[in-house]
Amino acid sequence: MSFDINKIRSEFPILNRQVHGKPLVYFDNAATTQKPLCVLETIRHFHNQINANIHRGVHKLSDESTQAYEDARETVRAFINAKNTREIVFTSGATASINLVAFSFGEAFVREGDEVIVSEMEHHSNIVPWQMLCERKKATLTVLPMNDNGELMVEKLDELIGPKTKILAVTQLSNSLGTITPVKEIIALAHSHNVKVLVDGAQGVKHDADVQDMDADFYVFSGHKIYGPTGIGVLYGKEKLLEVLPPWQGGGDMISRVSFDTTTYNDLPFKFEAGTANFIGAAGLATALQYYQSVGIEAATRYEEELLQYATQRLTSLDDIRIIGTALHKAAILSFLVGNIHPYDTGMILDKLGIAVRTGAHCTEPVMTHYGIDGTVRASLAFYNTREEVDRLIEGVERVKLMFG
Ligand code: ALA
Repeated sequence: MSFDINKIRSEFPILNRQVHGKPLVYFDNAATTQKPLCVLETIRHFHNQINANIHRGVHKLSDESTQAYEDARETVRAFINAKNTREIVFTSGATASINLVAFSFGEAFVREGDEVIVSEMEHHSNIVPWQMLCERKKATLTVLPMNDNGELMVEKLDELIGPKTKILAVTQLSNSLGTITPVKEIIALAHSHNVKVLVDGAQGVKHDADVQDMDADFYVFSGHKIYGPTGIGVLYGKEKLLEVLPPWQGGGDMISRVSFDTTTYNDLPFKFEAGTANFIGAAGLATALQYYQSVGIEAATRYEEELLQYATQRLTSLDDIRIIGTALHKAAILSFLVGNIHPYDTGMILDKLGIAVRTGAHCTEPVMTHYGIDGTVRASLAFYNTREEVDRLIEGVERVKLMFG
């Protein structure tokens, strides 16, 4: 299919704004993506015409609101190819989804002396909840290491997994290195030892989100990193597993009957959705997923891959550039250092030129420790970015080198 970049860019109004008097170049897509007009319109329409609490009213608005929320659940189900909507829990984001699993799975299955495995390249949100669980249960956190290219050393997994290992949590795509990890292989290996796997799809969901194909036990992602609103996210869990996990939070909607003597819980997925859900966010997310599908996921991914190649080739043609994360399988995330110049200094100069990049450890301090650095400059690209914008980045880096060189 043809990839009409001008049409695509016209659907993201923010891309037209100026920053410090220069046209914005938005290269911070791993932190959050921009929202197309159709998502903004869904949110506006919902507030203007439908807004009512879900699952609670007999009135028309509540009915429409509930329908939109449950339609959104079905859209998410289809997008990640889950078997049924009982497996789709709406949360506030990937972080909340991981915390939910770390708590509930931990309560049900993790005992003193058990082990939990995470990888060295995890985002803090896929480390800290497991650390908290291990502290609570006196369990041990074990780390699957990576090599200096930023690739997971999957060959070590067999010796790391022991009879006490209960769950392994791994990213599908590293937010600071761009590495695409072999989740399918990791899951098959873990399952051969009867170990469950949670996949952090915060970055990977944009490229490949077939939970049945990868056979993930749990899969999490956030709406705002896939062109949807903030404050909405998803936990996918295999139905049989979710059924036996205790709820994470108590409140309205997650119950069936309440008395002071005893409370019984609602069916899946509502058992995990205490309180008023972000139903407008869910509708916005559904629109974002439909929009992204209409653009074409494969076409968008291929376009981003080409842009990454171009950016890598241009950046590495400059002197004194160190790329952090050189995995063979990589998505459009480019972490780098310019000589000995501090990433913040590079980021500040780029900002003055209208170029938004992220600087620092990107919530992956163990990755930075691996490389013995404080942080990197990270340009994370999306399908609405262009070669001309990459050229602006290169000119900006040249300017930084001149100023600090
Ligand atoms: N996880 C987000 C990032 O990588 C915030 O920037």
